[in-house]
Amino acid sequence: MGVRTALSAVALYGLGAISGARAWETTCTTFTLGNSTGVSVIGATEYQAGDLVNVTNVFSSIETSTLPAFCRIELLITTNSTSNKTANTEVWLPDAWNGRFLGFGNGGFGGGVNVADLGFAAVSQGFAGMSTDTGHSSTVIDGTWGGPHNDDAIIDWNWRALHLSVGVAKQVIQQYYGKPALKAYYLGCSTGGRQGLKSAQDFPEDFDGIVIGSPANWMSHLEAWSIHIDLNVLPVGSPQWIPPELWTGVIHDEVLRQCDALDGLADGVISNPLACNFRPETLACRAGQNTSTCLNLSQIQALHQIYSDYYETNQTYIFGPYYPGGEIGYTFGLLGFPVLPIAQDYFQYFILNDTTWDPTTLNYSLVQFADELSPANANAIETNITAFVEPERNGKIIHYVGWADQLISPGNSLHYYETVHAFMQSNTEYNIDDYYRLFTVPGMQHWYGGYGANAFGGAGQAAAATPPLSSDPVHNVVSAIVSWVEEGVAPDYFIAAYYQNNQQSQGIGFTRPICKYPANVVYRGGNVNDSSSFACV
Ligand SMILES: *[C@@H]1O[C@H](CO)[C@@H](O)[C@H](O)[C@H]1NC(C)=O
Ligand SMILES: *[C@@H]1O[C@H](CO)[C@@H](O)[C@H](O)[C@H]1NC(C)=O
Ligand SMILES: *[C@@H]1O[C@H](CO)[C@@H](O)[C@H](O)[C@H]1NC(C)=O
Ligand SMILES: *[C@@H]1O[C@H](CO)[C@@H](O)[C@H](O)[C@H]1NC(C)=O
Ligand SMILES: *[C@@H]1O[C@H](CO)[C@@H](O)[C@H](O)[C@H]1NC(C)=O
Ligand SMILES: *[C@@H]1O[C@H](CO)[C@@H](O)[C@H](O)[C@H]1NC(C)=O
Ligand SMILES: *[C@@H]1O[C@H](CO)[C@@H](O)[C@H](O)[C@H]1NC(C)=O
Ligand SMILES: *[C@@H]1O[C@H](CO)[C@@H](O)[C@H](O)[C@H]1NC(C)=O
Ligand SMILES: *[C@@H]1O[C@H](CO)[C@@H](O)[C@H](O)[C@H]1NC(C)=O
Ligand SMILES: *[C@@H]1O[C@H](CO)[C@@H](O)[C@H](O)[C@H]1NC(C)=O
Ligand SMILES: *[C@@H]1O[C@H](CO)[C@@H](O)[C@H](O)[C@H]1NC(C)=O
Repeated sequence: MGVRTALSAVALYGLGAISGARAWETTCTTFTLGNSTGVSVIGATEYQAGDLVNVTNVFSSIETSTLPAFCRIELLITTNSTSNKTANTEVWLPDAWNGRFLGFGNGGFGGGVNVADLGFAAVSQGFAGMSTDTGHSSTVIDGTWGGPHNDDAIIDWNWRALHLSVGVAKQVIQQYYGKPALKAYYLGCSTGGRQGLKSAQDFPEDFDGIVIGSPANWMSHLEAWSIHIDLNVLPVGSPQWIPPELWTGVIHDEVLRQCDALDGLADGVISNPLACNFRPETLACRAGQNTSTCLNLSQIQALHQIYSDYYETNQTYIFGPYYPGGEIGYTFGLLGFPVLPIAQDYFQYFILNDTTWDPTTLNYSLVQFADELSPANANAIETNITAFVEPERNGKIIHYVGWADQLISPGNSLHYYETVHAFMQSNTEYNIDDYYRLFTVPGMQHWYGGYGANAFGGAGQAAAATPPLSSDPVHNVVSAIVSWVEEGVAPDYFIAAYYQNNQQSQGIGFTRPICKYPANVVYRGGNVNDSSSFACV
């Protein structure tokens, strides 16, 4: 297996790669786009290998001198000619091109070109990369641009800017290199995951292979769930309020005591939170016990809600739960701030057009209203993905999620995968394993980070100083999608690294397999820092 994948990686990255000299005539700084109604080139910058690349916007930034030579093309794309709505999009074109196109997604409500992944995931691996600002400029937690009634902006954020940018990027690649990209790939997490699923569902021709992490693809339910989760403990100082130090010092420790060793090894990483029925009542305060080391009944009740099987109202499934193990990463409401701003903005600016709406009044009718409205059809929950995966199209999806995701319940990833599985099994003759695989990452938070092995080439990971161990498909999810699409070799597992303190410069702490759902990691014996001591069962 090791030898085979190593050879496969060589074949993969040898193919089409032009090392050293450029094999085409186009020059970067004078690049123009023919036949380009509604598209203008607004910048073209040539970087030599090792040049400082220092680009910042409100969503993403990169400051490095480690990239190979490339050409940065900045474009302004008209997305609605009637309203003169535009999006800023960039295409980064490496000299040592591997012949492929890799598009990237965004995060939260962020509006800004994903320059970090363009550098650390596209150019550094030989792909021609593309990312768009989705038509607006904002930080990830700011959704105020969505309204009231800014439908054009919501449409661009939802699908239009990305879809149009894919077409333009393919044209730029064709003109710059003098030949089209061999295949088109996509990498994105969170909102980027939603964008990837949207492409597979609605624009099946855009990409051949899609890699998505923890997708925010069910906006109407996700945002309601975020608020619901936070309201379990809010307001600060209420009987049910749980101070941050209880989460990290007391609750997380008890979670580990109950759940950690179930995989055969007490190492601080829970391999399968589904296997653990966490019982918070063991933390109930006894008479005279110091309350900073135990929980009162209101707090225990809140924990039951947060870890309950799922958030439901009158037997109606709304969203997945948090699973035991993510406590140290919890943010916003759970750790002392107001409800997640993204969630509040979603209802105020996208759904209700009422900036005075009070999140503590969240009710299920509002979820139903949001479901019906689904502004600009931002929910990407279609379970019929036949058009993307049928043999004539042959699209592939690799989906991963951290079991310790602190922002989107990992249950959402399981739910989407299972609903696609159920639909496709009943309505088509295709076997889901042939086109869509889900991988669960123990101890990983949203996008990256956490305390499990979390570096395997996913979105934002290399940019966060946790690059994959190699370009081998077993270590690198982008190589894996290429291998699956082009060679028909589907990934069964990955091997990820945990770098000390999640910093590559501090060395590798340990390596672990990442298993294909529903399998999970178990310890077989041997060096606990070496992935070969573990198996997927
Ligand atoms: C120019 O672009 C239009 C619209 O994208 C397309 O239909 C047409 O085929 C293109 N023409 C050429 C010569 O590329
Ligand atoms: C990158 O740009 C920022 C401001 O745009 C500047 O403060 C910083 O010093 C630059 N970095 C380097 C290494 O020059
Ligand atoms: C484009 O903008 C016009 C004018 O604001 C608007 O009426 C129309 O609905 C928009 N079209 C789309 C497809 O967004
Ligand atoms: C869009 O831009 C064109 C050309 O600049 C202009 O004629 C038109 O009035 C603008 N339309 C809107 C809705 O701003
Ligand atoms: C908010 O505005 C959108 C259009 O911008 C509309 O579809 C929606 O129904 C409005 N919400 C309410 C509660 O009126
Ligand atoms: C529960 O404990 C918290 C402190 O951990 C306290 O603020 C709250 O008042 C207590 N609630 C009850 C009902 O005792
Ligand atoms: C309770 O425990 C905390 C943390 O261990 C300590 O700071 C505090 O002084 C203790 N309170 C009492 C009343 O012992
Ligand atoms: C639910 O919330 C919406 C929006 O705030 C409100 O208009 C509606 O009256 C509420 N419904 C119920 C049953 O409380
Ligand atoms: C849940 O069911 C109860 C009893 O039928 C009903 O009174 C209540 O309105 C329902 N709540 C929602 C949110 O549908
Ligand atoms: C699923 O999608 C395919 C391709 O778009 C379509 O032909 C088929 O009718 C759909 N199946 C169902 C059950 O809706
Ligand atoms: C595993 O790694 C940790 C942290 O680097 C180290 O302390 C420990 O000795 C290692 N264990 C083995 C068996 O190598």
